[in-house]
Amino acid sequence: MTQITHQIRGLFTDYFKKQGHVIVPASSLIPSNDPTLMFTNSGMVQFKNYLTGKTLAPYPTASTVQKSVRAGGKHNDLDNVGYTVRHHTFFEMLGNFSFGDYFKEKAIFYAWDFLTNELKLDKERLLVTVFHTDEEAVSYWKKIANLSDDRIIRIATKDNFWQMGDTGPCGPSSEIFYDHGEQYWGDKPGTKDEDGDRFIEIWNLVFDQFEDLPDGSRIESKLKCIDTGAGLERWSAILQNTNDNFQIDIFKKIITVTAELAGVKQDEKTKMSLRVIADHLRSSSFLLADGVTPSNEGRGYVLRRIMRRAMRHAYLLGTKEPLMYQLVPTLIETMGMAYAELEANKQLIIDNLKTEEERFRQTLDKGLKLLETETTGLSNGDILSGQTAFKLYDTYGFPLDLTQDALREKGISVDVAGFETAMAKQREEARKSWAGSGDSADEAIWFDVHQQTGSSEFLGYTNDTLTATVCALIKDGKTVDKAVKGDTVSIVLNQTPFYGEMGGQIGDTGTISTATMTVQVTDTVRKADNQLIVHKGQVINGEIAVYGEVTATVDIERRAKIKAHHSATHLLQSALQQVLGDSVHQKGSMVDDKRLRFDFTYNKALTVEELNRIEVLVNEMITANVAQKTQLLSLEEAKKTGAMALFDDKYKDIVRVVSFASKTKTYSCELCGGTHVAHTGDIGSFYILSETGIAAGIRRIEAVVQASAVRFVQDKNALISDISLLFKGIPVADIPAKIKELQADKKMLEKQIGELKKKVALGGTDTVATETINGITFVGKIVKDIPAKEIKSMVDAYKAQIKSGVVAILSENEGKVSIVIGVTADLTNKYDAVPLVKEAAVIVGGAGGGGRADIAQAGGNLP
Ligand code: SER
Repeated sequence: MTQITHQIRGLFTDYFKKQGHVIVPASSLIPSNDPTLMFTNSGMVQFKNYLTGKTLAPYPTASTVQKSVRAGGKHNDLDNVGYTVRHHTFFEMLGNFSFGDYFKEKAIFYAWDFLTNELKLDKERLLVTVFHTDEEAVSYWKKIANLSDDRIIRIATKDNFWQMGDTGPCGPSSEIFYDHGEQYWGDKPGTKDEDGDRFIEIWNLVFDQFEDLPDGSRIESKLKCIDTGAGLERWSAILQNTNDNFQIDIFKKIITVTAELAGVKQDEKTKMSLRVIADHLRSSSFLLADGVTPSNEGRGYVLRRIMRRAMRHAYLLGTKEPLMYQLVPTLIETMGMAYAELEANKQLIIDNLKTEEERFRQTLDKGLKLLETETTGLSNGDILSGQTAFKLYDTYGFPLDLTQDALREKGISVDVAGFETAMAKQREEARKSWAGSGDSADEAIWFDVHQQTGSSEFLGYTNDTLTATVCALIKDGKTVDKAVKGDTVSIVLNQTPFYGEMGGQIGDTGTISTATMTVQVTDTVRKADNQLIVHKGQVINGEIAVYGEVTATVDIERRAKIKAHHSATHLLQSALQQVLGDSVHQKGSMVDDKRLRFDFTYNKALTVEELNRIEVLVNEMITANVAQKTQLLSLEEAKKTGAMALFDDKYKDIVRVVSFASKTKTYSCELCGGTHVAHTGDIGSFYILSETGIAAGIRRIEAVVQASAVRFVQDKNALISDISLLFKGIPVADIPAKIKELQADKKMLEKQIGELKKKVALGGTDTVATETINGITFVGKIVKDIPAKEIKSMVDAYKAQIKSGVVAILSENEGKVSIVIGVTADLTNKYDAVPLVKEAAVIVGGAGGGGRADIAQAGGNLP
């Protein structure tokens, strides 16, 4: 049978589709359009700018089933989870939205119609609240639902005035309540027992007509809009005849499996822990699937708090081994049909939960013992010292709220101010140790900035543009509150789509702007041990101020080129290993928007054939157009995938593994924090520019892809065309033969010229004139412009001709004299060419000379 909860999702969207609404998919739990919001906490978050009229909505009405997290930030239910039947950190919100289309009347009509005619809820059990001044809403409830006055409750508090956060859309609301019956404790909204479990709010209709601004003022929105939100789990509970959300199909299944795995009974003793685990399993898994990883700051820390809170309860159940990760398959079974991201990120979720629980368990036991010792003697109303809470935090990894949660049942609270003092003291000490760590003064400032702002969150794997808060501005090496037109400034944002240069990938460029201000970002770097992402640029107009909200937009064309070059280095590494063997390892790399450089270990130059094969292999991987997949895995799991890791990187516990793989074949798999193309086909084509040695045993390949590759080929072609033109436009294919022909011609001509010169020197004849001195045949010649090398061969030729005798040739060439004297072998015992040539040299201003008895050479400078 189909799960009831899942059926409701379908009923809801079908209904609003029929009413002409566009069904919009749920947005990520990390809001990309609001830097002030930690997590998507309701359906309206993705529509925030439509509701205020800042952006024109692409549709007049919409409907969603939105995954939401309420932990950290304005709407924080973390502390209540487990204690009540209806609080969650993760829940699904069903909503319908009108962006300047319908308003109060229709919103009330749809809600009433859906609840009573589709879900078929008992009308008698429904009652509503309205904001105390909203007579208009009262009249529609009377008209549409025929509700009597006692079932329309006027509320003057902020319960009936909805605000998304400290800023953003807001407005009076009307809430619909369901009466679960007298068997439960609790009273109607507005009474002192309203927080009981009898009357439960099941749908909130917000009549958005205002916007809260960062300066604290409230303005009228440009549009009158509707934002409604209903908790899916609460509806599901009603349809499953319970007021307890944890009894609905999804939770029942998860809780049953948890109890089985933990080996416990479901009873009053275990109830709270089982609820916490089930709820936190959902929020942790969905946050992990949306890219949040546990850390000590920001979103990552809220996630860690949620995870550890659940892990303490798993421990309380008596489990000896990590539990949470074992529940992931059950979660997917119960929710995967609506959220494909769970299955897609299954391994990531499992890895993170397992690693975190293993790690927390190493200190949990000791921490709980410390807590026990420190609280013996304390009772209801007492306070645990801030110092102890800090020790639990610092040494045992207990988030403050976990300690508070652990003490809540005993009625003991924590000295939060004392905790914060201890924390501040430790920070100050850490800062001092940085100052002494030898960082240059320039760099030290980044550690101070980091101290104040916390780490920057990089959201650029999935976003090209997003809104962010300015956390710090640095000008001329000092922090400033604002920067104005013309200033060169470094900007730190709380979150950014800009990639800060790291791991060989160049930093992004783009703009940081508001309606009245623009900073041209020319580079983005990482500072303070890579914890800060620093945007460097110039204020082009307006003024940028700390704490202001800005839109950060990456130059996506440039980024696309960078991505292509980066992905190509991965394919190149794979091709290198295929061609040269597995011993080839990356030694470094650099990628920008124009080319890539890849250094690797190999001890000899690559042959042309090897380079060609590598180029072909990379291009084949591009043509295969396989998809990129990125997984966040524990280092241990990552190693199991066989992912290639970089030589000297210090890896975190959870690493990104980027692979390019088809169903049947993995082309590349590497640990990498960079940004990559979605499919290898996006790389276009790949050409090697050069291969050189850069150090002993290290080679470097430079290459180009995409447009740079096209330009490279075009430049080459242009060169070839030029050459062809020099040959009067012969076909390109004939050029090599033509050049060979020319080279042969040149050789032949040189030879002929040499011969001719000799001939000219000899007076144009081949037969040599001789004389006889003392019975010895002698040939003596003075020639011009013949180089010494040529004279030697002339002397040899004459020796051969006369068979026995002495030959002496002098050449005047370029203002110098060369003398070569040869003696035939039969006479060398009588005449030695060396002293002969030495004596001759003196006459022409030379000294020395040398050779052998049969041929010797000298020179002088007095022709
Ligand atoms: N934004 C309102 C809420 O979250 C209605 O969707 O309750």
